Amino acid sequence: MNYRHAFHAGNHGDVLKHLALVLVLDALKRKPTPFAVLDTHAGRGLYDLASDEAERSPEWRSGVGRLWGQGGSPASLADFLARLARFNPDGALRCYPGSPALVAEALRDGDELAACELHPEEHAALKAALRGRPGVRIHARDGWEALGALLPPAQRRGLVLIDPPYEAPGELERAAAALVAARRRFRNGIYLWWRPLKSESALDAVDSEIANFGVGESLRADLWIDTPRPDGKLVGSSLLLLNPPFGLKQELELCLPALADLFAAGRSGWRVR
Ligand SMILES: C[S@@+](CC[C@H](N)C(=O)[O-])C[C@H]1O[C@@H](n2cnc3c(N)ncnc32)[C@H](O)[C@@H]1O
Repeated sequence: MNYRHAFHAGNHGDVLKHLALVLVLDALKRKPTPFAVLDTHAGRGLYDLASDEAERSPEWRSGVGRLWGQGGSPASLADFLARLARFNPDGALRCYPGSPALVAEALRDGDELAACELHPEEHAALKAALRGRPGVRIHARDGWEALGALLPPAQRRGLVLIDPPYEAPGELERAAAALVAARRRFRNGIYLWWRPLKSESALDAVDSEIANFGVGESLRADLWIDTPRPDGKLVGSSLLLLNPPFGLKQELELCLPALADLFAAGRSGWRVR
């Protein structure tokens, strides 16, 4: 396990993932009944954009760095920025919240987050970042195994975020199989699965495999900042959602063109389907 998300925190892929995440959380909060979130690969929760890692690989500068300080349109992007601002009360962008921090901030009484992080240092940092937060449980356990052990949640409604590091070969296919199996256990859950966009055909292949299992309604959102290259370099990212909340497609269709323009006007693009 060599992957450290601190090198990538706040990049274009994080912005796409975390924007969709907060939109899903907002949708869950439209009903008063409690919900649960399972974050299978949680990371350390809070990322210092002045850390050594962020200095050595300043991906955030061409991601959230371009978004920070932008105006209030579309409204969902303005709301996302307002959430980031809560983590940066003195007005300068220094702290980027990862998925468990964004979820923890959104929980109401009765809502719960189970966040799994296997790397000892990342796990310790996550525990420290979210210590004392009501409804939050941090597990030092394998996120793939947690999909079997922790689903369905007692609340019977909620979100499963699957965001592995893709450092092992075959992790895309592994995640696809895990997603299908998890959905059998928790059928009405919302699933949000982040994937790197390096080869569109590889993503199309896993998505059609998943569709063959009859997984119900799905939504795919892609955002790229360059055209795919033969060397397989990351040029964008892709989300696959199962049971996407009502209205999410329209929100993403409003936000993604704005993000594509900000990140790399001319070379960038987006697609929601
Ligand atoms: C892409 S990062 C997660 C980023 C986080 N979801 C976010 O959006 O802020 C993937 C994380 O998964 C952790 N990890 C790797 N294999 C794991 C496993 N089998 N179970 C749980 N965590 C794992 C890594 O240490 C890394 O911190």
